[in-house]
Amino acid sequence: MIRSVVRGIGSALPRRIMKNADFEGMVETSDEWIAQRTGIRQRHIAADDETTASLGEAAARAALDNAGLTPDDIDLIVLATSTPNNTFPATAVEIQNRLGMRHGFAFDMQAVCSGFVYAVTTADLYIKGGLARRVLVIGSETFSRILDWTDRSTCVLFGDGAGALVLEAEESAGTIADRGVLAASLRSDGTHKDKLYVDGGPSTTGTVGHLKMEGREVFKHAVGMITDVIEDVFAQTGVSADTLDWFVPHQANKRIIDASAKKLGIAEDKAVVTVHLHGNTSAASVPLALSAAAADGRIKKGDLVMLEAMGGGFTWGAVLVRW
Ligand code: UT7
Repeated sequence: MIRSVVRGIGSALPRRIMKNADFEGMVETSDEWIAQRTGIRQRHIAADDETTASLGEAAARAALDNAGLTPDDIDLIVLATSTPNNTFPATAVEIQNRLGMRHGFAFDMQAVCSGFVYAVTTADLYIKGGLARRVLVIGSETFSRILDWTDRSTCVLFGDGAGALVLEAEESAGTIADRGVLAASLRSDGTHKDKLYVDGGPSTTGTVGHLKMEGREVFKHAVGMITDVIEDVFAQTGVSADTLDWFVPHQANKRIIDASAKKLGIAEDKAVVTVHLHGNTSAASVPLALSAAAADGRIKKGDLVMLEAMGGGFTWGAVLVRW
C-alpha cells in the first residue's frame, strides 16, 4: 500500500520575542501568574511585514531544504490556519505563488488549533487517493492580529509562527513497522462554540473580530477529548504508551500536556514541550514542536510519534506517524 512518509520539516518564527514581563505594564498580570498557570515564558509576535503567508513561506522553504527538494517537486500545499492574510483567496495559494509554483494546487483548512492534525490527515488521504505524490503541509498563524490586547485572560496566551512538513508517497508493506502516517482519529462538536471563538467574520459582522475564550471551560474538556482520540489511535494500531517514542501535543498549556500524558501513562520525558518558548500558536504549535525535536535529534527516523491537538469548535484529533 501507499504510505505518506515524512521527507522534510522546517519552521519560521517572527523576529520579535515578547516576554511575560512585557505584559506587566499593559494588563494586570505577572510573569509568575502566566508561567505558573500555563508554562509560557515568551512568545514571538509578528511585525507588520510578517504575515501568515510570509511565515508559512519561510517554514515551507525550510522544510523543502531539509527534504532536499524544490517547489517544482510539490503537487499540493495544504495550509492550516485561522488567521489567513485575506478572507479569500486562500493563503495557501498565496504561498504557492511566493514559492514560484506554477503547477499543482493549494488550499486552506480551518480547524483552529487542531488545524495541523486535520491537514496532515487530509494530505495523507490525497496521497493515498493518488491525487498528489508530494504535499507541503503547513501550519501558520498570526494570532496576535486577532487578540484583544486589553483582555489579560487571552492576550498573554498566544503567539505567532509557522511549521511545515513535506509528505511523500512511498510504497510500503502496510504494517505498523513501516514509515509514514499510520493512523488518525478526528472529532468536532459545535455545541462548544461559545467557549472559544472569534466575535467577527465576513458573513456576520463584516469585521475580523477578536478571540474570546472561557479558559476554565476549555481546560475542563481538553484532557478528556485529547486522551479519547489518542486511545482510539492506540486501539486502531496496537501501539501503547510504552511503545510510543514521542508525544508531540498541541502547546496551549503545560498543565494540559502533563495531565494528558499522565492519564495516558506516557512517560514525562517522551513529551515534546515548546509552550514556554512559543506560547499557543494554534495550528502552528504542533509543527513548531515537531521541528524543534527533529532539529535537536530527539525525533529520529523510525520513531513512533503521536501528534494531538484540541481547539475552537471544538475540534480535536490525533495522528500517529512513524518518522
Ligand atoms: O488552544 C486552544 C485550547 N485552549 C486551551 O487549551 C486553553 C485552556 N485553558 C487554560 O489554559 C487555562 O484555563 C487558562 C490559562 C486560560 C487559565 O488558567 P486557570 O487556572 O483555568 O485560571 P482561571 O481562568 O480559573 O482564572 C483564575 C484567576 C481568575 O481570577 P479570579 O476569578 O479567581 O479572581 C482570573 O481572573 O486568574 C485570573 N486571571 C489572571 N490573573 C493574572 C486570568 N488571566 C490572568 C492573567 N494574569 N493573565
